[in-house]
Amino acid sequence: MSVHSLDLLTHETAGALPVRLVGTGQTLAGPEAAWARAHDFTGKAGQLLILPGEDGAVAGALFGVGDSLDPASARGLSARLPQGLWRLEGLDAAQAGQAALAFALGAYRFDRYKKRPAPVARLSVPESVDAAAHLRIAAACALAREMVDTPAADMGPLQIETIAREIAERAGATLTVTAGDALLEENYPAVHAVGRAATSERAPRVLEIGWNLDRAEWPLVALVGKGVVFDTGGLDLKGAAGMRNMKKDMGGSAHALALARLVMQAGLKLRLVVLVAAVENAVSADAFRPGDILSSRKGLTIEVGNTDAEGRLILADVLARAGEHSPDLTLDFATLTGAARIALGPDLPPLYTDDEALARDLLAAASAVGDPLWRMPLWPGYRASLDTEIADVKNDSSAWAQAGSITAALFLQKFAPTTGAWAHMDIFAWNPRARPGWPEGGEAQALRACFEMLSRRYGG
Ligand code: BES
Ligand code: MN
Ligand code: ZN
Repeated sequence: MSVHSLDLLTHETAGALPVRLVGTGQTLAGPEAAWARAHDFTGKAGQLLILPGEDGAVAGALFGVGDSLDPASARGLSARLPQGLWRLEGLDAAQAGQAALAFALGAYRFDRYKKRPAPVARLSVPESVDAAAHLRIAAACALAREMVDTPAADMGPLQIETIAREIAERAGATLTVTAGDALLEENYPAVHAVGRAATSERAPRVLEIGWNLDRAEWPLVALVGKGVVFDTGGLDLKGAAGMRNMKKDMGGSAHALALARLVMQAGLKLRLVVLVAAVENAVSADAFRPGDILSSRKGLTIEVGNTDAEGRLILADVLARAGEHSPDLTLDFATLTGAARIALGPDLPPLYTDDEALARDLLAAASAVGDPLWRMPLWPGYRASLDTEIADVKNDSSAWAQAGSITAALFLQKFAPTTGAWAHMDIFAWNPRARPGWPEGGEAQALRACFEMLSRRYGG
């Protein structure tokens, strides 16, 4: 699945061509200055200028960093540098590591349906940079992005199960699949209700991975993901514009699985439970309806005000299942609301947790690795917007509360584990505009931040 050649980052140095980082206002000397002037190279962030040698061959490059270097801008280098081995000049050890990862992230291409030339540049990194570790992180992000980019016809519940199986088998972890009518026998009623309208080959399922579960002395971490392979909105159908990108509605499951793979590859000292609900929110005679009252694994009854608020329904059951393991920490990922994007835009995922230590550690890790999160409140005053006269809770909050991402998080909170800490990330999982190194399409969000936090807590 991965698109990353293993020698994208290397410790080889022989023949590496220099990429010189140039700020705006920095003066260049000699022939370079004339070449830069002729090409309007000013050192603006992201500008790239190839330098010829005396024989006309490529001799090096200038890369604009603007007012100050953001190592993440190296995402824009891998696709634009000509073939060859390159090295970045003038970085300290921390920046070199961040730039190496950015370079690898920038090499991602979604080429499953249209073959395009793969990036050909490679990066020579100093010995202080753990190239293999950065390539593993980039590969995890590529897995999540590729799953999101793949259309729903080819990324159904069964395909997600297949990916989960491959990840589990490689790591020596267990995988338990509960699919179709077995969801009713095994008490996943909300997952069944949301997913039952799909064709039988695309039947709903709960995937549960367990790793290191015999290591009772290690903390137990649960990773939970929303895997709606396509969200039509159900009977409360979405409009065309709102439905257009809903192949990405399994982004949470892609993140949970990719992060799990990374945690297991890194051998972090923890027990892991991964829970993914993979369903298609389809329309058929058997679809669940507005007004239906669902039972849930936790026993709470849920009135369906809108079948388009399906993510929180399936997460209710798998979060309750996570709680049965008494986790020390639960992280869930979900493309849960359009309101998250209205609040914070596409690049900044809301983070919800009432655990101060977890908020601190996650936000610190997020800023350290340049994978931002923004804390939002589980505001108790809006809980009443989920009340209904005829069930324990409803899935569409009353209009007066407005804050749709917050009320969705408050809904999840009713089902989240009560042992340990819980954090919910309402991710967008998508780049809506193309920039060099950030192609339009699937994007990993909060994945690197969570891995960094877990590594700091449970590594070494
Ligand atoms: N998958 C969507 C949320 C979404 C929409 C995420 C667009 C990213 C981009 C979710 O299932 C949904 O439809 N949510 C509704 C909830 C509403 C009906 C209460 C929403 O946010 O509009
Ligand atoms: Mn929906
Ligand atoms: Zn959805």
